[in-house]
Amino acid sequence: MSDWVRVAAKGDVKEGGCLGVRIGDKDVAIYHLPGGEFHATDNICTHEYALLSDGWLENGCIECPLHAAQFDVRTGKAMSAPADEDIAVYAIKAEGDDLLVRLPG
Ligand code: FES
Repeated sequence: MSDWVRVAAKGDVKEGGCLGVRIGDKDVAIYHLPGGEFHATDNICTHEYALLSDGWLENGCIECPLHAAQFDVRTGKAMSAPADEDIAVYAIKAEGDDLLVRLPG
């Protein structure tokens, strides 16, 4: 199991929005759901190539900016075509003003 990595300040991800970060060679998207929950997933759509952090977060789902597939950011589940493969989700926690993510080791 790898260590927790600081990815952003809480204030960097506005409520209802998302932010793309790099951890090593991995693109990770951080989401801030209305109400204050944070989630982290792979940032690359499983359909073709697009950054999910360029998409739209609504009702707990991120919509891909390229062909509008939707993924549940809490579970990674692909919710609508054209994507049929889920995205990976990662552990995320807040510590003070910081957000930390743990990738599988
Ligand atoms: S690249 Fe995301 S839906 Fe096609």
